[in-house]
Parts: sequence; structure tokens; C-alpha cells
Amino acid sequence: AALTSGAAYAQDYPTKPVTFVVPFAAGGPTDKVARDLADTMRKALGGQIIIENVAGAGGTLGATKVAKAAPDGYTILLAHVAMATSPALYRNLQYKTLEDFEYIGLINEVPMTLIGRPTLPANNYAELLKWLNDNKGKINLANAGLGSASHLCGLLFMSTLKIDMTTVPYKGTGPAMTDLIGGQVDLMCDQTTNTTTQIEGGKVKAYAVTTAKRLATPALKHLPTLDESGLKGFNVTIWHGLYAPKGTPKPVLDKLNAALKTALKDPEFLKRQESLGAVVVTDNRVNPADHKKFVEAEINKWGPVIKAAGQYAD
Ligand code: MLT
Repeated sequence: AALTSGAAYAQDYPTKPVTFVVPFAAGGPTDKVARDLADTMRKALGGQIIIENVAGAGGTLGATKVAKAAPDGYTILLAHVAMATSPALYRNLQYKTLEDFEYIGLINEVPMTLIGRPTLPANNYAELLKWLNDNKGKINLANAGLGSASHLCGLLFMSTLKIDMTTVPYKGTGPAMTDLIGGQVDLMCDQTTNTTTQIEGGKVKAYAVTTAKRLATPALKHLPTLDESGLKGFNVTIWHGLYAPKGTPKPVLDKLNAALKTALKDPEFLKRQESLGAVVVTDNRVNPADHKKFVEAEINKWGPVIKAAGQYAD
């Protein structure tokens, strides 16, 4: 602790590359947010930021690695809503979400889209609904593991529709997207940061967005919401934040938070995020205390939903 407590330590930080741990496979939406943010943030931070993908168990393996890492500012977690769902889903979770991390700030909120394989014989939500009812028991829904955003959205979709589907878990929706495009699975609920280019390129069928209101993004604005398509109240948006191990020195956290805030105001970053349907956080949740309060509220929101679905992992 002496090593990292001195003011001189924080003064010089960072003196070597900072690792952003991404708890899903490369190529997925979490990875895309991390690489874009790292590219934008490294100038303001004054040092290299490298990405390390630590996939598995719905993002909890990566979060565990950071919770147990040295609190020296060189191992940072970039994670999403799984931080709020894993406490209810994983009964042997190796960390306490609100106690074992320092909160650095919230990054963005990303809508989701319901997409299908290009060969799926349904070209809009009404035709999809008919296909789902005609193919009960034969539908494969891809996700990124228990607790992933794609799992959560799929869970809500199945339980609202009352149609059970076989879920096929991947290390991330990057690899899952490859199989969906290849026709190995039928459907997936995935973040627009991963689906917008595929939808624009006609690589997948797009049926709806999961937000309360339609999106303004040119490639997505034609898609109806699930709410207007009949799933009243359906509203899922995936948020991403930055976390450090508990005990990371405050001056180091302040440097990380300041660099994050600078990055979130970068015009190019904002343009890239907007083109993929993502909304960069501009409110007080970019501050650690409000970031933490928000996650606590999300834990309390998702807990009952998950318990009602009766899903958990040991
Ligand atoms: C998720 O479904 O949680 C994410 O899309 C996984 C990923 O980022 O690959």
C-alpha cells in the first residue's frame, strides 16, 4: 500500500500502460465501446491503454479479475448492466458489486435491437410473431451467457411473449453475430453498437428496437419499438461504466475520472457513438458517487425481474 499511497505515485501515474479488462470476447459491443473509449481517453490520461478480453460466465470472470487485482490504477474494468444483474444471477459471485470496486463513472447507454438470421422467413415484427408461434420448440436464441445484456433482453422477450426458446450462449455477441449471419442460430437481442453496421449491410434481418421510443439513428429509425409492437412497457437500454479495485488511491481515480470526462466530450467520439445509436452520458452519472448510486438502483431494479424468471447459476 505504501507503494501506491504516496502523492508522488499519483503525480506520476500512469508510468506504464493501463489495462482495460473487457469481460466479453473481442468484436462484441462491450469490446467496441472499450476500444473506442480507450483510443479517445489515452491522450487525456497521458498514457497507453490496452484492452484485455476476459470472457466467460456472463461477464463475471472479468469483473472478478479486476475486483482481485492490485489497487494501483493499472487494472480497470469496463463493464455493463451485468454489474447489476450478476448479484441476483450468480449465487457464488466472487465479489460484492458495491463494496469491492471504486466507481469511476458511467460512459454511455446503448439501445438493443431484435435481429434474425438473413434466411429467417419473416421480414417484419408481425411476420416474426407468426413464425415464432408456428415454430415453438424449434427456435434458437443466441446470447452472451447468463447475465449478459443479450441474455437479459432475450429473457424479457420470451417471458413477455410467453414463448420458450432454446438459448445458445457465446463468449460474447461478437462470435454470436458470426453464427447468426451464418444461419446457425435464429434470433438475437443485441446492442446497436454491434448490430447497426450489420443491419445497414443487410447481413441480418432487423425487427424492432428495445427502447421506449424509436431511435433517430438513420439506419435504425424505421424500426418499431417492441412496446408499439405489442410488448407493452418493454424498455431495455444497456449502460457501460468504468471500475477500479477497491483501495485504488483517490488521486489516481481522480485522474481516471478527469480523462473519462474529457473523452466523453470529444466530438469524434460523440459522432461515432451517435452513428451506432449509443447515447454518451452527459449527466452527473459521470461522477463516481452518482455512478455508484445508479448501479445500486439498477441492482434493486433487476433483482426481482431475475428472481421472477427463476434463473440463476451456481
Ligand atoms: C452482452 O450481450 O452482454 C454483450 O453484448 C456481450 C458482448 O459485449 O459481447
